[in-house]
Amino acid sequence: MTAGDSAHEGHGEHWAETVACRVVAAHPFGAFAAVEVVAPAIAAAAAPGQFVMVTVPAPGFFLRRPLSLFTVRDDRVGLLVEDRGPGSRELARVAVGETLELAGPLGTPFPVEGVTSGLLVGGGIGCAPLQYLADELRRRGALVTAAFGFRDLRQARAAAAFDIERLWLATEDGSVGRPGTVVDLLAGVDAAPNTVVYTCGPLAMVAAVQRWAHEARLGGYASLEAHMACGTGSCHGCVVATTEGYLRVCSEGPVFALDTVVAP
Ligand SMILES: Cc1cc2nc3c(=O)[nH]c(=O)nc-3n(C[C@H](O)[C@H](O)[C@H](O)COP(=O)(O)OP(=O)(O)OC[C@H]3O[C@@H](n4cnc5c(N)ncnc54)[C@H](O)[C@@H]3O)c2cc1C
Ligand code: FES
Repeated sequence: MTAGDSAHEGHGEHWAETVACRVVAAHPFGAFAAVEVVAPAIAAAAAPGQFVMVTVPAPGFFLRRPLSLFTVRDDRVGLLVEDRGPGSRELARVAVGETLELAGPLGTPFPVEGVTSGLLVGGGIGCAPLQYLADELRRRGALVTAAFGFRDLRQARAAAAFDIERLWLATEDGSVGRPGTVVDLLAGVDAAPNTVVYTCGPLAMVAAVQRWAHEARLGGYASLEAHMACGTGSCHGCVVATTEGYLRVCSEGPVFALDTVVAP
């Protein structure tokens, strides 16, 4: 498929258009790479919290990989990729001028209507969807505060890829920001009663954020990760336990109400 070509794919409940997109920027940030592609149709339909299924641009990769929308600016879509395995390594290596095939936008967005104060809590690559969310909340005049936790200095370099004014950092090895986890950071946050909490990261972290928000009497939303095969609702390979039963991360999620997440 060449840049500009597209194909429709039917997969039961959802379908997604696969579009060949030209890479126009690629920058390394420690363990991560920020990649920007020209994707007008995806950009026009997208909302924060949604994701795209990305074809790994190398032989031998049958399954596409889900990646969150990191930024959406004009006709460009930004992705933040962590090198975690063979597929994401290939994606993190793409260079300007190459082509990436994206299908999306997929999944449920973060609700933002009427929000005046957002507290964005991310762990590791779970921070990726929070930049687009911060941009949207800011555009709507909301106060945005972010607390991000990273494992070590190499991961924490990703913070430089973000443009969020009130951004607090923690690292588990103490190399940057407050030593400890992002949940330790929350202990020092005095959130206004109308604050909506948005979180994304490992399930254990999301569960800790859920407990903190419950004690602080704050509501919110969590974006969950799961291994995905189809990404469009037909294989049921991505189900997670919620208080409303087993739901598919790719189609009923990835964004769920925070109080419906079932802790591990
Ligand atoms: C909705 C959603 C949004 C995501 N957004 C991003 C993003 O913006 N940037 C990014 O870098 N990654 C994101 N991921 C995770 C990303 O899809 C996986 O890291 C990637 O598919 C791993 O592929 P691989 O071939 O490199 O690694 P594999 O060899 O398949 O796995 C490497 C390691 O990552 C773990 N892993 C693999 N897939 C997942 C997954 N889907 N969820 C959790 N752990 C996984 C494996 O258990 C293993 O430990 C997202 C996942 C989901 C479900
Ligand atoms: S990945 Fe197939 S149903 Fe979600």
